[in-house]
Amino acid sequence: MKILVLGSGAREHAIITALRREGDGPEGGAHDIVAAPGNAGIAADVPVVDLDANDPQAVTGYVLENDVQFVVIGPEAPLVAGVADALRTRGIPVFGPGRAAAALEGSKAFAKRVMEEAGVPTGGATTASTLAEAEAALAVFGAPYVVKADGLAAGKGVLVTSDLEAATAHARHWLEHGDVLIEEFLDGEEVSLFLLSDGHSVAPLSPAQDYKRLGEGDEGPNTGGMGAYSPLPWLADRFGSETAFVDEVIETIALPTVRQLASEDTPFIGLLYCGLILTPRGIRVIEFNARFGDPETQVVLPRLETPLSTLLFAAATGTLETQPRPVFSDEVAVTVVLASENYPGSPVTGRRITGLEGAVGVEGVSVLHAATDLDEVTDAEGRPVLRATGGRVLNVVATAPSFAVARDRVYGVLEGIRLEGGQYRRDIAARVAEEVR
Ligand code: AMP
Ligand code: GLY
Repeated sequence: MKILVLGSGAREHAIITALRREGDGPEGGAHDIVAAPGNAGIAADVPVVDLDANDPQAVTGYVLENDVQFVVIGPEAPLVAGVADALRTRGIPVFGPGRAAAALEGSKAFAKRVMEEAGVPTGGATTASTLAEAEAALAVFGAPYVVKADGLAAGKGVLVTSDLEAATAHARHWLEHGDVLIEEFLDGEEVSLFLLSDGHSVAPLSPAQDYKRLGEGDEGPNTGGMGAYSPLPWLADRFGSETAFVDEVIETIALPTVRQLASEDTPFIGLLYCGLILTPRGIRVIEFNARFGDPETQVVLPRLETPLSTLLFAAATGTLETQPRPVFSDEVAVTVVLASENYPGSPVTGRRITGLEGAVGVEGVSVLHAATDLDEVTDAEGRPVLRATGGRVLNVVATAPSFAVARDRVYGVLEGIRLEGGQYRRDIAARVAEEVR
């Protein structure tokens, strides 16, 4: 199948890696994959095309001219720009919701409204459009305060703080861009669960946990995500098994949400990312996203044994119900993000990355690129120079029989990679590695 993958991060590199792996199986079936716009790591694996992934007409034109049979949309921006709508109108199978359903991620107020109508458990929230309303809501909810920008804010819109002045200042800042939500603080472990949806039924992937804060011990500012691991063996202590947990999320959260959107004539066809908190009072949704999570995808997909293209295509074509539940290996996966100096503030970009050859041939390890390109100049040996082009630069991913071994593999490789000012957390999956020996 000729597949176009839109996006340029490590998530898309992970999706492409999973799609390419299918070609190694007994059924063969290698796909013809192109990416737009991709990055240097993706370009080393598949052809990349210089296409504005956020331009519905440009994408549709490319697909029709080049006989692309299936489009997989990685990031949220093309969804919100209506790229999936434009493709679907032309009868082109696409994995990713239309603009209206993508508002589940793009507008937190919309998501809260859908959850309320579907009876989905989430924290209480008040939408404020003036500072006076925000201040009143902060007083009602009390500390710790949770203040969120309503629209897409590239991970910078959320502040959780016990400092009323900081909460008020955050609300004041984001009110310049639209509404803000003041939310009830939810206390507990966070879980990311991804479900494929064809608009009516859902198919669950394996749960993962993301590390959102920049610093070790969950200190410092929120980021797009600094690392992740999958599965979550501790879910069994609380729910009996991973399957029991997943089934509860399907019954109480995913299916009611998908059915609600279908009843509003905005079917959700794509990836329903359930950001959950396991509170003492039960599972609560903190957010939905309308796409694969980053970096959780980098640990979920390496464990997926069912061919990814089969699942994504079934979701895109309304036939998910005919598919068996996705199967995952017993191996675990850990990923750690290497970020640029000053991330998540104003990351220093353009710096050279070296030492990647140290990852070649290390068992279970792959290096996925998040923000890289190749410079025109070459090094002393005539090899092109790899440069960092953004905040999150690389993901080192390892699969292994245990978290301790996966961590050893990831950190062994990371120690050999050089990026001036580069930063990464050393505690990713440390606790779970201690617990499950
Ligand atoms: P979000 O962008 O909504 O995923 O929020 C980013 C992070 O802020 C989440 O991963 C949580 O760690 C934290 N957070 C968001 N909402 C809440 C909440 N209601 N209670 C506690 N923590 C929250
Ligand atoms: N890992 C968080 C996100 O993808 O939004």
